[in-house]
Amino acid sequence: MATHTTTAVSHYHVQKKRRAQFLEDWRRYRQTVVHGTDVPLLPTARGLRTGVFAGADGDRPTRSMDALVHELDQGVTSTLHRHSWDAMLFAVAGRGWTEIDGQRIDWGPGDSLHVPAWAWHRSGNENGVTARYLSFSSQPMLETMGMAILEDAGHTPVAELPGRPGYSPGVDGDDPYARRLRRLARDQDARRSGRLHTSWDDLELVNTPRGTRTTFLLDRAIGYQASGITMAMFEIAPGRGQSMHRHPGEAWLYVVEGKGHSYLGPEPEGGETYPWQKGDIIVVDHFLWHQHINDDPEHTAKVVRIHMFDSLLETMRVLCDPLVLFEEPPEHIRDAQAGDPSTVDWPAMTRPTWP
Ligand SMILES: [Fe+2]
Ligand SMILES: [Fe+2]
Repeated sequence: MATHTTTAVSHYHVQKKRRAQFLEDWRRYRQTVVHGTDVPLLPTARGLRTGVFAGADGDRPTRSMDALVHELDQGVTSTLHRHSWDAMLFAVAGRGWTEIDGQRIDWGPGDSLHVPAWAWHRSGNENGVTARYLSFSSQPMLETMGMAILEDAGHTPVAELPGRPGYSPGVDGDDPYARRLRRLARDQDARRSGRLHTSWDDLELVNTPRGTRTTFLLDRAIGYQASGITMAMFEIAPGRGQSMHRHPGEAWLYVVEGKGHSYLGPEPEGGETYPWQKGDIIVVDHFLWHQHINDDPEHTAKVVRIHMFDSLLETMRVLCDPLVLFEEPPEHIRDAQAGDPSTVDWPAMTRPTWP
């Protein structure tokens, strides 16, 4: 075996070339709107039909989260599986159930669920109509660290399967090892007791200065313990838009209801516009200025926003300080762009329908 390596080029040049190539590859994966109608769904060994909006198992690899869509026919119970990453589900059609470590949760369109890391889970449908839901997970992030593990247990009863990985309880003492044991045990205690389900019927949307009304679906603010993925929903009034802003990170918007367009550009003016409609995912991950506008003069548009804030984007904020990672126009411009949402006669909340 060779123990000595000689290269003609310097470490500096190798690294520079590698970094440029890396970014070049990733720029090719970018897509601003992924139309739901362009996502093929294929039958899987789990018993579901699954399609990829964004992720390595489709045509567009991602770095932090992935976005998939699943269909569950009446009479089907999926296999049980678990993984080292966590996932957030958003139901868009039909009624079904999901069992998380043996706890059954019934859901309908508009409900959202958190599937914690290492929890055995499966879904079923006994309701006559095919159910459809989206999943957003931290799988790519874990894969970058070599920690993405998936285990399928088929239809083995959950009682016969091993529980989540064990951990040692905290011990007394002020040495670094005792501190670490205590700190990590506390963290796991908290992470294993988070909330699992938000029902559509409990949502209350609140007006924001950005011209929309919004609510959290799954977020630490309402008791969830996730890897950092958060899910919120906002509603844009007929003919209005959300005020322009920019940020990095894979922020995605799933269009639950309505149709409109988004402006994206390196400057607040002179960029491109992209049309979207119900069932599409809008991708805003290039630190471009962007604004989402509802083109329907009569109906509101509802959009579910997903990003990995509490872990990845918070870490980026620390590492990149003093770079600004969330930028809005000055308040008077923001408010003029957005319009006052309190002047809107918001409609009653009805559950999403499909198609
Ligand atoms: Fe899963
Ligand atoms: Fe945004």
